[in-house]
Amino acid sequence: MKIKDVYLSDILFKNFVQLFYDLTGIYLKDYKKYLVEYRLCKIVGPDKPFKTYEELYEALLHDTKGDLRIQFTNLLTTNYTYFFREENHFHFLKEYIIKNYKTQNYMRLWSAGCSTGEEAYSMAIVCHEALGNMVHHYDIKILATDISMDVITFAMKGVYHYSKIRGNIEDHLLKKYFYFDKDKKTFTIKESIKNLVQVRFLNLMDTFPFTRLFDVVFLRNVLIYFDNNEKEIILSKIYDIIKPQGYLILGLSESLVGIRHKFIQLPHSIYQKEV
Ligand SMILES: C[S@@+](CC[C@H](N)C(=O)[O-])C[C@H]1O[C@@H](n2cnc3c(N)ncnc32)[C@H](O)[C@@H]1O
Repeated sequence: MKIKDVYLSDILFKNFVQLFYDLTGIYLKDYKKYLVEYRLCKIVGPDKPFKTYEELYEALLHDTKGDLRIQFTNLLTTNYTYFFREENHFHFLKEYIIKNYKTQNYMRLWSAGCSTGEEAYSMAIVCHEALGNMVHHYDIKILATDISMDVITFAMKGVYHYSKIRGNIEDHLLKKYFYFDKDKKTFTIKESIKNLVQVRFLNLMDTFPFTRLFDVVFLRNVLIYFDNNEKEIILSKIYDIIKPQGYLILGLSESLVGIRHKFIQLPHSIYQKEV
């Protein structure tokens, strides 16, 4: 793909940044210009639906149906993820479930910024492994949310090409929780796992619509998109929807240094709500 067939001026880049911010609450910094060009040139260029970035921007402004805005959002969000990413957190979740299910009437887990679903389905596998047959008699559910409709649609299907799975999931778990299609070389999540997971659209900048409190919230590799002020708003909203002594888990490389929040910090990017 040639990026330089068309030129993205600094002014137009700023317009895209503003529009993306209005749509998602995510602020793209100046050094992301190359990324924006790279992502948008999939639909901008001599042989593409939009010949220039100006044309795309005008079309976005007049996009009354909203389809183009959805495509624009999908193109600019980063969806990298894989099963059992940062494994420590899944061990932690398993321990939490085993230790607490007898004293909790229900458990709610949330994969916030779930991307293509690998994180939420890994959590569901952990639920099965932790509870065994009890999983069918206990009120435990996982909510998986994202702002990109592309990844939500993908996550809902729960079908993964073997090349994306290999090496990340132990063989016995693959056999137990997936069907393998030899012709298509895809693994499909079994119903018993899918049934635990609800995949929904949710912009983390919007008001949260929840009626029940969460035990553990995975918010991993998502806060990178937001500035400090927005991070504080999101963390405060999440604090309010976590059970007392419940947990928030961030990506291992993420830190809340310089960000105001009410959580107690534990090792491995794990945060706990006070009683
Ligand atoms: C890098 S992925 C992280 C996936 C998974 N949590 C993990 O750690 O492997 C970040 C996800 O956050 C989503 N995201 C970004 N901004 C968001 C927002 N404002 N509301 C909801 N999801 C958002 C992106 O669409 C993307 O799928």
